[in-house]
Amino acid sequence: MSDSIAPAAVPASASVAGTPPSWWDRSVGYEAYIRSFADGDGDGVGDFIGLRDRLDHLAWLGVDLLWVTPFYPSPMVDFGYDIADYTGVDPLFGTIEDCTAMIDRAHELGIRVIIDIVPNHTSHQHPWFQNAVASVDADKRDWYVWRDPAPDGGPPNNWISHFGGSAWTLDEASGQYYCHLFLPEQPDLNWSNPGVIEAWKDVLRFWLERGVDGFRIDVTQGFVKDADFRDNTELRPLEPGMSRFEQWDSFVHERDILQDETLEIFRGWHELVAEYDAFLIGETYVLDAMALRHFLEPRDGIHTGFWFEPMHMEWSTEAILDILRAPLDAVGSGIGWVMSSHDDPRAPGRFGGGREGAERALALMTMMMALPGTPFLYQGDELGLADGYVPPERFVDPVSFRTGVDSDNRDGCRTPMPWGSGTSLGFSTSEDPWLPMGGRDVADTVEFQRNDPTSHLHRMRALLAARRSMNAALDAQDGTSDTVEWDAPLAGVTLPAGVVGLRRGPFVALLNSTDGALNIEGLTVELDDVHFRSLAEPGIGSKGADDVGPAESFGLQAREAVLLHRP
Ligand code: GLC
Repeated sequence: MSDSIAPAAVPASASVAGTPPSWWDRSVGYEAYIRSFADGDGDGVGDFIGLRDRLDHLAWLGVDLLWVTPFYPSPMVDFGYDIADYTGVDPLFGTIEDCTAMIDRAHELGIRVIIDIVPNHTSHQHPWFQNAVASVDADKRDWYVWRDPAPDGGPPNNWISHFGGSAWTLDEASGQYYCHLFLPEQPDLNWSNPGVIEAWKDVLRFWLERGVDGFRIDVTQGFVKDADFRDNTELRPLEPGMSRFEQWDSFVHERDILQDETLEIFRGWHELVAEYDAFLIGETYVLDAMALRHFLEPRDGIHTGFWFEPMHMEWSTEAILDILRAPLDAVGSGIGWVMSSHDDPRAPGRFGGGREGAERALALMTMMMALPGTPFLYQGDELGLADGYVPPERFVDPVSFRTGVDSDNRDGCRTPMPWGSGTSLGFSTSEDPWLPMGGRDVADTVEFQRNDPTSHLHRMRALLAARRSMNAALDAQDGTSDTVEWDAPLAGVTLPAGVVGLRRGPFVALLNSTDGALNIEGLTVELDDVHFRSLAEPGIGSKGADDVGPAESFGLQAREAVLLHRP
């Protein structure tokens, strides 16, 4: 196994559906949840110095694009997604100089940096909200969403929070309710107010001038609300004990999210960031490809939207085909491929846990890497990690406290990154980080897996290199790079049940979703045709790399995906 894949800058590239692809269409992204990535000052919480000092890992892995979660001054009620100053850095994470030093170092390594912005809501401690709540005549009163109570004195309508319960909280002093699609400590901005729109353009420019390469936009489906604040259609009554998703899914969200007027805001941002060749990727948290289309089809707003269905799927051949195909059929390009994040259980655990779960996750990631769009790893995906274990008495995430449902808790996917041997597995010099290490051991760490050429980490690195060379080959051929064929990707060869296959230009990707080895009869493969295998070094078939020379059938191991070069 060679150690010499150079961290090159993002290659210039050609053609996506008639328009040249942008740098982000050829990048592999990586989400660093800053609190849990690397602690540079020993206080048990990750920070900018820790992140900067670990960027070499991302360069070695072959990452092109780093997404950093919120680091702004915040009372941390939602661990930074409740922001009190959009142009500062919370002392917990360092200073603005530490932030720009991290960005500069990333650029030296050929890694672009996007930062998380949270425009749907502020913290209740933001000076804008402090002003707004002081009086009904305050300057910034209309920067937030206020309504009089319903005739019975209750909330103005039936909207609920993504975190369960009503989306409205009564401000006793004024007798009005304010809207919050998340916690009461996260009041929603009024995106119908021109002052809010202008203030946000200043925020974007502030960071673009400091060298960021774009933004991950929190809650892209939110922002503008129905002008008349009409009820959503109720599908079933809310019952005690429902999880946050069950509550949310009890309504058709036609009034609180996905309003067309929001697209106008993104149109303005599109023009603004174009001056910097910067990237806008939306947290389009909608589990429906047609809703993704709502954002992406105009092509003059956000460039890319995350597709979240892989975070909620079951492991089955049909589901795999569906989650890969549906967004491409709906929008063609501009898809952010992810299967783990700081908000949902990690993929290897959802796919059965243990070695098998990690193998399934890597196989699915292989298919995503074969497709047009921008794939993202969440920190620890490269190690094949399932969630860390956090006992309920150590829970800190506010969501499960609000709903009372333990499975709503998000702490397990946020436990600190295991780097090596030593205190807190190299995450921190503190023995008591903000969340426990989660029961990880040394074999889970970056250091250990780097020393094992057969590790998940090395396979992931080889996959990123395979995607890079695949892109280069696609870009050298006009017109094929964005077209994906799903039916009969190999002429004259019938894929066995359990195998998902696709073709993109001269490349074919195959995934064996079953737990047994499968033979693909009639597929003759030469060693040079094998571009990547998720479970081993490229070789002809399931018998491994010794099995050189053409074979009359091609073997896939259980839970294995391969990329073949088959012009
Ligand atoms: C997004 C973030 C999540 C946060 C929420 C409210 O969904 O990913 O972590 O709690 O927005 O800002």
